[in-house]
Amino acid sequence: MHERKIGASMDSLNNLNNDKAAIVKKVHIETWGCQMNVADSEKMLSLLQQRNYELTLNVDEADLVLLNTCHIREKARHKVLSRLGVLNQLKNKKPELKIAVSGCVAQADGKKLIELAPQIDILIGPGKIDQIGHFIDATPHNGVPQVALGFDRHSEEQNSTSTDDIGKFIAPTVSGKKEVTRFVNVIQGCNNFCTFCVVPFTRGREVSKEKSQILNEVRGLVDQGVREITLLGQNVNSYGLDFIKTEIVPQDGGPFVELLKAVSEVQGLERIRFTTSNPHDFTRPLANLFASNKKMGRYIHLPVQSGNDHILERMKRKVTVSEYLGRINWLKEAVPDIAISTDLIVGFPGETEEEFEDTLKLISEVEYSFVYAFKYSARKGTAAARFSNHLSEEIMEARLKRLNDIQNAITLKQNQAEIGQVRDVLFFYENSKIPGMYVGRSEHYRTVRVKSERNLVGLTLPVIITASNKIAMEGILN
Ligand code: 5AD
Ligand code: SF4
Repeated sequence: MHERKIGASMDSLNNLNNDKAAIVKKVHIETWGCQMNVADSEKMLSLLQQRNYELTLNVDEADLVLLNTCHIREKARHKVLSRLGVLNQLKNKKPELKIAVSGCVAQADGKKLIELAPQIDILIGPGKIDQIGHFIDATPHNGVPQVALGFDRHSEEQNSTSTDDIGKFIAPTVSGKKEVTRFVNVIQGCNNFCTFCVVPFTRGREVSKEKSQILNEVRGLVDQGVREITLLGQNVNSYGLDFIKTEIVPQDGGPFVELLKAVSEVQGLERIRFTTSNPHDFTRPLANLFASNKKMGRYIHLPVQSGNDHILERMKRKVTVSEYLGRINWLKEAVPDIAISTDLIVGFPGETEEEFEDTLKLISEVEYSFVYAFKYSARKGTAAARFSNHLSEEIMEARLKRLNDIQNAITLKQNQAEIGQVRDVLFFYENSKIPGMYVGRSEHYRTVRVKSERNLVGLTLPVIITASNKIAMEGILN
């Protein structure tokens, strides 16, 4: 999960399916960070649509600008602050413009953010997004920002599920397009408190959504043409532990494995993925499900963070390198060619050259298909921020480059080995700049492009891979 900004193309608005006659106002949404934020933006858009707002991709024509922010690393927070500076200028020209800030920066910085950026009208933490509608209904504010921070154990939505509600909770996409792949949030928050991580502070403790509601959401999405669902949670494989009142996933895989089985039975769904898994809560039955259930694909993201036990202990990751490799072995035993990606942090406080080199050894041993590597960023309030021996930017930069050089060679080698293979590709969209070029993903989560005269969007088809580079494959229909 990363602090990229998620945008949309202009032509995508054509697909919006709104009641134009009733719509009077426009909202422009900018989403940074993880998939969870995308799902939250979609939820807020649906609440705003009920208040006669329609999505616009053009900030200049907006009545309301919503920044849904990320706080995972300092760089992500800076981007928000500089964007607020630009919006301030816009508001000077257009004083009736409302500015709302949601997400993890809102929760972490709280009212301090309003001191830094007094142009903010609405400040909403990730635990309070349900309230955006109430804030919009409220009379125009008199210079006093409306603020909702903190966490409720259960949202209004979580309490209002019924098996007749198929499709009731279907949120629109923030891209404005009809998407073939969508996210469904199944568990909020995190109980783990890894020492580097701000998420438990910004998203609160774990609260799972009822299985019946998740199934309703998935069925509703599939009815709309969605073919791939990614179940989301900061710690997705601890789904449902709050229901059965335990902190340890049962040996049979527990509620998460049960949920995956139930979702995969939804007629018309082609693929089910999930993110982010924590190795600590990863069970053998979950690994085995990849072998027995075709819809699961052959890819998993399993963050390790470091290849050194001393660093993992100081990160409070709760698994050792050998326990992590044990999980990787379960996966490889279940599906020998499974593609695996991971998250890594370089330059954790006090990380020695040898400890860093253990991470390099690990990536060569596991042979990840891809890694998301980050320089450590101190987050206020976290335990690691108070550790001594923070490393210099130069050391972190150099380590990041060494790591990425090694991984890039591994990724390229794997992608080249794809040439000549036949892969099942689910197609997501047509490239807006190259008509007839369809883009999808293989079961191993590799991006594949195929030229075709017929519309492939939403179809899963066998493709012979003919070319590849570090980023994507090309192929022809088999
Ligand atoms: N510094 C650098 N990277 C971080 N991540 C989380 N917190 C930090 C931090 N303080 C990374 C971890 C996590 C991913 C989402 O972001 O690798 O898995
Ligand atoms: Fe952060 Fe650790 Fe929770 Fe992941 S498991 S969200 S890294 S505290």
